[in-house]
Amino acid sequence: MKANKIVYSSNTGFTERYARMLAEETGLPLYRLEHAPRGGSAFYLGWLCAGRIVGLSRARKRHLVTGCCAVGLGESPDPEKLAAQLPGGRMFYLRGGYAHEKLHGVYRLMMEGMLAAMRRRPPEDESARAMLTAAREGADYVTRAQLGPAADWLGE
Ligand SMILES: Cc1cc2nc3c(=O)[nH]c(=O)nc-3n(C[C@H](O)[C@H](O)[C@H](O)COP(=O)(O)O)c2cc1C
Repeated sequence: MKANKIVYSSNTGFTERYARMLAEETGLPLYRLEHAPRGGSAFYLGWLCAGRIVGLSRARKRHLVTGCCAVGLGESPDPEKLAAQLPGGRMFYLRGGYAHEKLHGVYRLMMEGMLAAMRRRPPEDESARAMLTAAREGADYVTRAQLGPAADWLGE
């Protein structure tokens, strides 16, 4: 195994569903970032907020993070921008979803601001337009199949 536990952060539940599936598939213990015992190696799953993997820097201060899944709404974000957030580790991307009714506080305001800006000036690229539609209508892209590469890598 490439890590001895799975640690995650999730705001609206999509990342948590992936983390639970990965724990089932690997048999590794699973912890929320706030409750994980410090030290040792960890595989981290975090959601994407404005291009950053939430909780990853905190996780790296507490654990040796060998690999990570970023969970976002976009179809395929820039792999280099994701990989740069975990130098020396292995990065994977999973498509999560969008549940506006579960968003609160600053994140809800941020998303409403982003959506209003996109409505005023509709994005030109296809993937940004798809994100806008998903955010408007809600979306759930979670599938066990997407976890395959991360589960295989962890078990190597
Ligand atoms: C404020 C905000 C910013 C976001 N920024 C991004 C982003 O940069 N890229 C992306 O793919 N998804 C972005 N998303 C979508 C979330 O990453 C997506 O909904 C994810 O599945 C949430 O995971 P969770 O349910 O575990 O919190 C953003 C969502 C919010 C609320």
